Amino acid sequence: MSFTRREALLSGLGAVALSELSFSGRALAAKPRARYGAAVSLADLKADPRLGRAIVKHCDVVVPVDELKWGVLRPDEKTFAFEKADAIARFASENRLAMRGHTLVWYADMPEWTKAIDTPSAAERALVGHIETVVARYRGRISSWDVVNEAIPDVATRPSDRRQTLWSTLLGERNISLAFKTAAAVDPSAQLVLNEYDVEFGDEHFPAKRAAFRNLIMQLLDAGTPLHAVGLQCHLRGAKAIDRDGLGRFVTELHSFGLKVLVTELDVMDHQLPASIKERDDITSRRVRDLLETVTAAGPLDSLLTWGLSDRYSWIPYVFPRKDGLANRPLPLDSDFRRKTMTCFSAFISATST
Ligand code: XIL
Repeated sequence: MSFTRREALLSGLGAVALSELSFSGRALAAKPRARYGAAVSLADLKADPRLGRAIVKHCDVVVPVDELKWGVLRPDEKTFAFEKADAIARFASENRLAMRGHTLVWYADMPEWTKAIDTPSAAERALVGHIETVVARYRGRISSWDVVNEAIPDVATRPSDRRQTLWSTLLGERNISLAFKTAAAVDPSAQLVLNEYDVEFGDEHFPAKRAAFRNLIMQLLDAGTPLHAVGLQCHLRGAKAIDRDGLGRFVTELHSFGLKVLVTELDVMDHQLPASIKERDDITSRRVRDLLETVTAAGPLDSLLTWGLSDRYSWIPYVFPRKDGLANRPLPLDSDFRRKTMTCFSAFISATST
């Protein structure tokens, strides 16, 4: 038996007993439930009413895909273009959904005009000014912020490796703690998150990346930085196994330092998986189940967000299209908003939606 969040709200049941919910892994259903959410872009929300309905039906949380990034928010040095993010915030509040903010500091999607920032004092003014204005605008509405996104290089070779960005070039490594301190000062009740990708695997360069990420986290904690949680993006590579041991140890360690843990951008890249939908969905299910069993065994998961909800609206077909021309299937719902019974995505939605 499974209830959606909306059905439960409407029936006045509040929280649905987890024992009533089915999940093929079982281990998950026995844990306290994480809030479930999805990333959404305003253009898709406006274009397709099915998307909004599906989000309201399944989600507790939404996060804008691009609308809070510098590329959208900051057309020029003086302007904050809040209209699109505001519209998503309105959608969230009208439907009683929580909202996450993504992201205050990211090396990518920076507008051209920021290239003219060329002194440490100008950089500090721009970074602090941006964070103060954006966090203040959504104080009380955005409960959790990806303060810094992807601070570790794609391939790390030393534990001390940090991604080179406009901010690191001009301010040094303190740009990261500065961002957290600024956000904390403006909204002391917001959950402040360091978000990273590719820390879920155990071969090639992936363990080194996780080690550098761990090193940064420890450094921030040691320095008393207001870091509350760690976000694991979890853009899973369908062709790669989850490093259950290594990831499990890492997440256990994060909890032991008092950090919360979120899965922030889950989806599965299926471009190298077999064509057969059944075979493909079986593999993506296994990857997601391995991930969720691993992280929930290490401690309670704060929230689980997928990067989109329906295969119709995902970034995966743009960046990792299939060579055979078949449609990608990275997300919990198919392109017609049907649950994929062959995956554990759908079971997890049930298990996390009261
Ligand atoms: C992606 C969006 O989905 C795309 O629409 C955009 O063109 C590029 O960014 N990790 C992140 C997200 O933290 O911000 C990225 O989102 C996907 C990878």
